[in-house]
Amino acid sequence: MNIILLGAPGAGKGTIAQKMSAALKWPHISTGDILRQHLREGSELGQMAKKYMDAGQLVPDEVIIALMEDRLAKSDCDAGFILDGFPRTIAQAEALDNLLKKLEKRLDKVVSLNVPLDIIVDRMSGRISCKSCGAVYHTRNMPSLKEGICDRCGGELITRIDDQPETVKKRYQVYEEQTAPLIEYYRAKKKMIEIDGRSGGAEEVYEKVKRSIR
Ligand code: AP5
Repeated sequence: MNIILLGAPGAGKGTIAQKMSAALKWPHISTGDILRQHLREGSELGQMAKKYMDAGQLVPDEVIIALMEDRLAKSDCDAGFILDGFPRTIAQAEALDNLLKKLEKRLDKVVSLNVPLDIIVDRMSGRISCKSCGAVYHTRNMPSLKEGICDRCGGELITRIDDQPETVKKRYQVYEEQTAPLIEYYRAKKKMIEIDGRSGGAEEVYEKVKRSIR
């Protein structure tokens, strides 16, 4: 299956995608993780993206679309994929439609995780992520087994620069203005599933998502 996970920053897209990918063996494709990898490597793309990411703004559409053209053409996407953080604008969604047509693939479902701002700010204030593999934890809700160390790869756990409360609010505003219109876009295409991602912990939200895509 080819799936998009939509949702505001901190709604739990990465957490759910991680669980889904481990269980179903479809690649978890996160544009945020790909950009952070470029940042760590100091590539030209990473340096260009940094100023947008640190300010809580979106990286220009043409850059992201070119990245995804390369990524979705890889053979590990043949049996299915989970998109996390893409598309984020109507222009990106239209580019994805064209790209899937070219690759003779189709989009099966779009799952939107609905979580209000107060819960998002709380989740982001405790989020820690692995510097090496991008795995996501929470100091209170979902701690790693060994403090500061990633369970998956042994990498160092860090707080993202864009998780400062003021930047989180900016990212939420950008989501409302530029990404939330995608809910209507995919509703019109009859692909949209909306999930209440507020409570119950990540495991319960994951179970709801799994049931909804069956
Ligand atoms: P990106 O990395 O994609 O950030 P985001 O979409 O803002 O989403 P997050 O990764 O912050 O949150 P999430 O929904 O994955 O939540 P998580 O699972 O971590 O993008 C970063 C930046 O890159 C953007 O601002 C932009 O600049 C750029 N960018 C990326 N894609 C782009 C694109 N397509 N176009 C243009 N620019 C782009 O969960 C959050 C915390 O909550 C964690 O600590 C987790 O443990 C905890 N948690 C999760 N679920 C639950 C639960 N049910 N109960 C309790 N705690 C939970």
